[in-house]
Amino acid sequence: SSIYRDGVYGHRPTVPTSPDALATAARRRMTRAGWSYVAGGAGAQRTVDANREAFGRYRTVPRQLVDVGERSLATTLLGRDLPAPVLFAPVGALELAVQHRRGGRAAAPRHAEPALAHAARGLGLPVVISSQASTPMEETAAILGDGPRWFQLYWSSDDALVESFVARAEASGCEAIVVTLDTHVLGWRTMDLDLGYLPFARAEGIAQYLSDPVFQQLVEARVGAAASSSPRPAPARPTVAAVRSLLSMARHHPGPTLRNLTQPYARAAVETFLDVFSRSTLTWADLAWLRERTTLPLVVKGVQHPDDARAALDHGADGIIVSNHGGRQIDNAVASLDTLAPVVDAVRARTGTDPAAPPVPVLFDSGIRTGADVFTALALGADAVLLGRPWVYGLALAGADGVRAVTEHVLAELDLTMALAGVADVRQVGRHNLAL
Ligand code: FNR
Repeated sequence: SSIYRDGVYGHRPTVPTSPDALATAARRRMTRAGWSYVAGGAGAQRTVDANREAFGRYRTVPRQLVDVGERSLATTLLGRDLPAPVLFAPVGALELAVQHRRGGRAAAPRHAEPALAHAARGLGLPVVISSQASTPMEETAAILGDGPRWFQLYWSSDDALVESFVARAEASGCEAIVVTLDTHVLGWRTMDLDLGYLPFARAEGIAQYLSDPVFQQLVEARVGAAASSSPRPAPARPTVAAVRSLLSMARHHPGPTLRNLTQPYARAAVETFLDVFSRSTLTWADLAWLRERTTLPLVVKGVQHPDDARAALDHGADGIIVSNHGGRQIDNAVASLDTLAPVVDAVRARTGTDPAAPPVPVLFDSGIRTGADVFTALALGADAVLLGRPWVYGLALAGADGVRAVTEHVLAELDLTMALAGVADVRQVGRHNLAL
């Protein structure tokens, strides 16, 4: 309500409240590479568009003369009380978002996640730390303090690296492991492809790996093998730009991890990263392997079909994120929002029968731009949502203040939407609030 009052008294908000104005302002500020990476999706961008258009097909029905004088956004997720059903989606190579058109330093690292962590801590909302973060998770965790955090895992082809990431996440106070299922190969990202590089194979996407002892061993083994083999170097796989960005990051970085980065090491690091990033041979049965290696809840991200939701439950998942990765992976796909209700129904049908079983949360992302969008996702049955691009735009425009402002705008509109729909408690938002 303070945002609303400030507006009435003529104070402009920190960042635009309109989602399109927010994106436009961020676009003007960001480098072309940064904007393409963040805003872009797969192919002809039809899934990106569909994700947003879907919200226009679900209509809220306002109800009157319900006492909504006291409203609550608070909820509980995996046993943790939260001030609102909102998390920060994992976003890799985040540093690219804060490299500005003017006055920006190329690959000057470590401003993005710290800013996010400061904002999230102030708001009390969970950060889902990306495998591809621009900052080692330990540094982000230190800034988060007591604030909640989860860890998002890209399941590496190297078992030891998976185990190392999970162990680091546990030691960093992460309360869940989010296994992203939909990125075992990278989508056909036309906006990035046309710029001729793979954004997350650069320094901005690789810091989490460079700071990992298992990854370091893999890189060192590769450097050693290259040195002892034939004098003819292996064919150059990493782009010059990728290696240059690593070296540039090393120059700017005050910490020990990268300071002594040499050209051969940087090159080997990018090659190693491309080798171990993902594993396309995974099947549901592999989830049991991970289940045995951590006591943390496992949340699978990227579910779009009720049968996959059932398979996830059968193989030990404790939570599900309905997501199509913001339309970045497959084009001409179904809008993520249209897949939400069938997944919710499949999960509730399975878990509703046992009152002693802990609730399995169903979370949602892809296409949320406003508080009214959050309301719609909750009405269709989501227990919570993840915000993606909007907070990244806030970060690009105004750092931690921008992340905070974007999130507060979303929460303020959610609160007003609840009031006007006649719902006082966010946990009571349901399909009865929609004209279905
Ligand atoms: C992502 N997303 C993502 N997901 C993930 O599991 N690990 C990651 O490292 C990333 N990286 C990433 C980078 C950028 C720039 C974007 C925009 C997205 C997907 C993200 O978590 C989320 O699913 C989408 O952002 C949701 O879509 P919207 O709301 O941004 O359209």
